[in-house]
Amino acid sequence: MKDKKIIIAGLLIFLIILFSPFLYNIFVNAGSAQPAPELVLTEKAKAAKECVRSTDYMTAEHMRVLDLWRHSVVRNAERIYVNSKGKEFTMSLSNTCLDCHSNKAEFCDRCHNYASVRPYCWDCHIDNPKEKE
Ligand code: HEC
Ligand code: HEC
Ligand code: HEC
Repeated sequence: MKDKKIIIAGLLIFLIILFSPFLYNIFVNAGSAQPAPELVLTEKAKAAKECVRSTDYMTAEHMRVLDLWRHSVVRNAERIYVNSKGKEFTMSLSNTCLDCHSNKAEFCDRCHNYASVRPYCWDCHIDNPKEKE
C-alpha cells in the first residue's frame, strides 16, 4: 500500500515535469508575443484621411500597387493613377507614397522590421525626398 502512494506521487511529479514547458507557456509566458508595431500617420496623411486605395487593401497589397506603378511608369510612360473614387495620383514611390508617409522610419520601416521584410528599393529611390530637394 505504501508503495502505491509513492508510485502515484512519482507519476505526478513526472507528469508535471513533462508538461512544464506547456504550463510555462500558458501561465508565465502568456501575452508576451511581440505586440504589433504602432504605426504613426503624418499630419498630411491624417488630413488626407485615405490612402490611394482602401486601408485593408493597402495593408495587404501595397507592394502590388507599387509594382503596378513601376510597370506603368517604366514600361508605358504612364505617370497618372486614378483610383476608384476618381482621385488622381502621380505614380511615384518617393514623391507620392513618401509625401504622405514622410515618416518612413515610423511607418514603412517599423512594419517591415516587425515582419522581417527588407525592400531593396532604397538602393536607388531616395527615402527622404523633402530633405534632399
Ligand atoms: C494622400 C496621402 C497618402 C498617400 C499618397 C499614400 N498614403 Fe498610404 N495611407 C494614407 C492614410 C491616411 C492611411 C491610413 C488610413 C486609415 O487609417 O484608415 C494610409 C495607410 C497605408 C497603409 C496601411 C497601414 C496599416 O495600418 O496597415 C499602407 C501599407 C500604406 N498606406 C502604404 C502606402 C504606399 C505604399 C503608398 C504609395 C503607393 C501610399 N501609402 C500613399 C495616406 C496616404
Ligand atoms: C502594415 C505593415 C506595413 C506597412 C505600414 C508597410 N509595409 Fe511594405 N510590406 C509589409 C509586408 C508584411 C511585406 C511583405 C509582404 C510579402 O512578402 O508578401 C511588405 C513588402 C513591401 C514591399 C515589397 C518588398 C519585396 O522585397 O518584395 C515594398 C516595396 C514595400 N513593402 C513598400 C512599403 C512602403 C514604401 C511603405 C510605406 C509607405 C510600406 N511598405 C509600409 C508590411 C508593411
Ligand atoms: C537599381 C535601381 C532601382 C531599384 C533597386 C528600384 N528602382 Fe524603382 N525605379 C528605378 C528607375 C531608374 C526608375 C525610373 C524613374 C523614372 O522614370 O521616373 C524607377 C521607377 C520606379 C517607379 C515609378 C516612378 C517613381 O518615381 O517612383 C516606382 C513606383 C518604382 N520604381 C518602385 C520601386 C520599388 C517598389 C522598388 C523596390 C521593390 C524599386 N523601385 C527598386 C530604379 C530602381
